[in-house]
Amino acid sequence: MSRTGTGLDAVGAAAPRPQWSSRLAFILAATGSAVGLGNIWKFPYITGENGGGAFVLVYLACIAVIGLPILAAEVMLGRRGRHSPIRSMAELARVDGASPRWAWVAWMGFVAAFVLLSFYSVVGGWSLAYISHAATGAFTGADADTIGGLFGGLLGSAPTLTLWHSVFMLMVVVIVGAGVNAGMERAINLLMPLLFVLLLLLVGYAVVEGDFTRGVDFLFAADFSKLSTDGVLTALGHAFFTLSTGICVMMAYGSFLPREVNIARTVVTIGVLDTLVALLAGLAIFPLVFANGLEPGAGPGLLFVTLPLAFGQMTGGALFGTLFFFLLLVAAITSAISMIEPVVEWLEDRGVPRKAGALGAGLLIWALGLCTVLSFNHWAGFHPLGFISRFEGKTLFDLFDFLVSNLALPLGGMAIAIYAGWIMKPELLRESLGLGDGLAGSLFRFVLRFLSPAAVLIVFLYNLV
Ligand code: TRP
Repeated sequence: MSRTGTGLDAVGAAAPRPQWSSRLAFILAATGSAVGLGNIWKFPYITGENGGGAFVLVYLACIAVIGLPILAAEVMLGRRGRHSPIRSMAELARVDGASPRWAWVAWMGFVAAFVLLSFYSVVGGWSLAYISHAATGAFTGADADTIGGLFGGLLGSAPTLTLWHSVFMLMVVVIVGAGVNAGMERAINLLMPLLFVLLLLLVGYAVVEGDFTRGVDFLFAADFSKLSTDGVLTALGHAFFTLSTGICVMMAYGSFLPREVNIARTVVTIGVLDTLVALLAGLAIFPLVFANGLEPGAGPGLLFVTLPLAFGQMTGGALFGTLFFFLLLVAAITSAISMIEPVVEWLEDRGVPRKAGALGAGLLIWALGLCTVLSFNHWAGFHPLGFISRFEGKTLFDLFDFLVSNLALPLGGMAIAIYAGWIMKPELLRESLGLGDGLAGSLFRFVLRFLSPAAVLIVFLYNLV
């Protein structure tokens, strides 16, 4: 039992608990969570919509100054708690002499992760559908109408969406059900190197076949006249999403982190890798878009309409198109398994075996996912909160996304920063994060106390109106 005097461990581990087998295993798992549809789908299209380079710079600053400190705090709370986020937060609040209501932060995260996976899985399913399109040559030589029709046809067909959503959820349940080491760690050790290899291969393809200089120019030449306030806030919001921080998912991963690992340093590695993947994805996509005279600002359709059009016109397009959507699938799977983990861990805390927990949670999440499936077709006209002007024309899927991305992530991130910065004693904070008594420690605490909560509050209020 280690209810230690220093308060580093809030809860003594009664039963032996699985741990990541090494620092590298944790880095891969956390990077796997961070790198997802957000990096490969969303980052390129919001960069395209916001004019490129200047937006990228602001995004990098948001990651470094606000995202990473909060991520570090979240992982640290998980490691101190050593249980599911809900139980960890309750125990930590007790040990740190704070209100038991701090557990609500983890409850909110729990609900948010549940809802997030329900729609993430549907979009993850699109990558499966597109692997099959690309591999069967559906893009080859096709014109814009045909390609647009493919995407419209997919969204319009509830059975097809349900099929791919089901396959995706099944993969998640199998991996998570097999356990932290035998399931998640094994899958991640295979998938993450594969992801990097695929990504480099695709960047190589873009160098050879695309207009690479224009792609580089677009991503890195900063023209601040193209950046709006809106763009800055989008960048900050995305910093949270892409680092998977704010809804206690990384807290669950942190609960398996060996004590000797230095959190501050590890989190920087994760941030660098996550950013690298987003930038490389941009370098794989934009040169192809420009070489084919297409528009970078196409929005969400950038990956599913613009890019297939480019692949359809290029030598080797069928092969590299297939590889591209496979890459998207790998990225999505390693993120999805992190979203179900807090739920499964919570069930484990209550004595439900992991396999049964993964299956049960997976089924419920799958069922909720059907609302997202229907939002694209039969329920496209169903706007449950349409009587509030802010939510006019929003489908259930839009509302789920709003709930998670605009409410839960920023609120949770702010709460985590406040807990670490204001509730925890300064010495304990430094020690838990692995920071010395130097400047870094003070700076970190300052950011958590003032800068992060203020920045998040601004985005939050802005996104609300
Ligand atoms: N970061 C992932 C992405 O970019 C998504 C993700 C995984 C996530 N786990 C999360 C987002 C937890 C928020 C919270 O696609």
